Amino acid sequence: MKKSTSAFMAVLVAVGMMSSLASADIGKGKTAYLKKCKTCHGNGIKGAKMKTQAEWNAAFENNGAQFKAWHKGTKAEDYVNSSSFEKKMQDMRDFLFEYGSDSGKEPSCS
Ligand code: HEC
Repeated sequence: MKKSTSAFMAVLVAVGMMSSLASADIGKGKTAYLKKCKTCHGNGIKGAKMKTQAEWNAAFENNGAQFKAWHKGTKAEDYVNSSSFEKKMQDMRDFLFEYGSDSGKEPSCS
């Protein structure tokens, strides 16, 4: 009886951690977007709607090769090739993908 209760608790904790992880990434990506991209591309809704989900997916493949190519020669070139961008890239991708132009979703209060 005690054993099954703790197993049940472990499942609850694991599920809770997974769901908060999934949304934390998108939330972190949004924060990073607002901090780093908004000055040039507008708020989070506008930014994510620049591309479809498939296009965001492609843009961040190969360590963001296409994304970096878009910013070659722009003022953002140094940033998108920096290690601080690399660290946030996956979160940003998750955020942008989640709200891509064909996602039918709108981020709240951006
Ligand atoms: C210093 C300004 C600046 C910053 C910061 C910046 N960009 Fe850009 N971005 C540009 C410019 C300039 C272009 C190329 C011209 C254009 O298409 O608007 C571009 C191109 C793009 C494109 C391709 C647009 C198209 O029409 O194909 C996307 C998508 C994009 N940026 C997203 C982002 C995201 C996401 C971030 C945050 C990590 C970011 N940018 C940061 C200036 C910036």
